[in-house]
Amino acid sequence: MSKIREKFNRYVEAKNQIVCVTCYDASFSKILDDLKIDIVLVGDSLGMVIKGDENTHSVKKDEILYHTSCVSKYKKNFLLMSDMPINSYNDKNSAIIFAKKLLEINADIVKIEYQDKHKNIIKEIISKNIPVCGHLGFLPQYSVKKEDIRVYGKTELEYDKIFRQAKELENLGVEMILLECVDKKLSKLITQSVNVPVIGIGSGESCNGQVQVIYDIIGISKNPPSFAKNFLEESSSIKEAIKKFHDYVKNLN
Ligand code: KIV
Repeated sequence: MSKIREKFNRYVEAKNQIVCVTCYDASFSKILDDLKIDIVLVGDSLGMVIKGDENTHSVKKDEILYHTSCVSKYKKNFLLMSDMPINSYNDKNSAIIFAKKLLEINADIVKIEYQDKHKNIIKEIISKNIPVCGHLGFLPQYSVKKEDIRVYGKTELEYDKIFRQAKELENLGVEMILLECVDKKLSKLITQSVNVPVIGIGSGESCNGQVQVIYDIIGISKNPPSFAKNFLEESSSIKEAIKKFHDYVKNLN
């Protein structure tokens, strides 16, 4: 079993909730490291919160590399996860080359928005010993209209599909699964049914951990999702707000 799986399986066994926060620069990364945030995600949400775009579609590989290198400067304790942006995993060779570049600059794991067509590509990436987190539910890279931003898994068809995909990811050997905007009942079932840690966002409180965009935590995102909580409202500093998010997650269950 990989070191990542070993570590986070221990969290799951001990009911120690996994705290994940997005980050795009060195200054916030230092704060997250000091606060012992478990996982720091260089998300392609940077398309919205850093570049000011409507979605993640314009994010390029070079931008993820740049922000990963900034965040990795102060990495001591956290696990560093980097997003594979749109079009970076259309074919296995370029996906592997890019994922390896991320590991060279100190990322520990890459995250991929999973559709059925990516099964073989994920298999190939994992076969090169590159740790992968599979992202299910709302997939921002493949969402084109406003109505795509919704809860997934409410119909029987969608419920069965997401459950099947979660089991598929487990069998492919991913290190963890991230559920975005997945129906609460389904995210609970997935968390109980797979043998890998499950981290949720907008997917209820039954997962093994929670992730939130850092600018939502401190209340400065232009369009925060309805489920995001601004922790700065009840704090006197940015650091305290992030600590409150940390404590909120650790106290779930
Ligand atoms: O890009 C991102 O920040 C993400 C999180 C919202 C999970 O994928």
